[in-house]
Amino acid sequence: MAIDGPAGAGKSSVSKAVASALGFVLVDTGAIYRALGLVASERGLDLHEEEALCGLLEQMAIDFVMVEGKPHIRVNGVDRAGEIRTPAVSEAASHVSAHPRVREALLGLQRALASEGGVVMEGRDIGTVVCPGAEVKVFLTASAEERTRRRAAELQARGEEVDEAALFEQIVARDRRDEERATAPLKPADDATILDSTSLSLAEVVERIVQLAS
Ligand code: DC
Repeated sequence: MAIDGPAGAGKSSVSKAVASALGFVLVDTGAIYRALGLVASERGLDLHEEEALCGLLEQMAIDFVMVEGKPHIRVNGVDRAGEIRTPAVSEAASHVSAHPRVREALLGLQRALASEGGVVMEGRDIGTVVCPGAEVKVFLTASAEERTRRRAAELQARGEEVDEAALFEQIVARDRRDEERATAPLKPADDATILDSTSLSLAEVVERIVQLAS
């Protein structure tokens, strides 16, 4: 099952709940771009340098392990899950994910993770590019205002200070970059079910998606 959509549409909570309801494994592909953004920033790489990023990827063995029921991303055997959810890493991930060769280099890994079946894979281009043959495709969306409120609440729950106006601007800019990039832009697959979650509860969204799968 592919669940795509813009930042803050509720994909992570929804995907987690859907995977658990169906007994499927959850794969968060955004975590892969985040891990690359994190490591590239640590190494002081220019995030616009596609060549350098591809070189870095070759040195990164990426996998997921389950920790207390949650998938954690590892880079070269080190759990980096606790470091990839900051606004700075969100920015970095958005930049590195714009490069066609970076996206291409990550296709094999993502397809291998999906190949066993019984997987909920969440991202931006799963239904269109990574797994066009997915049995169920959902494009989950919500208004930019609602997505800002949700992201702010998420960050605040982790004890971070949030400037909501700046967060809104960041979300809109990130959407634009994701939608306008030449390779695998953020758009629903022709055969995706589009779900606007602006005025739906988590439970309602999950129920609708579980129904699609049965
Ligand atoms: O879903 P997320 O916020 O964790 O994603 C982080 C960034 O990675 C975001 O800018 C979009 C990008 N991304 C992507 O281009 N393709 C995917 N399949 C998943 C994420």
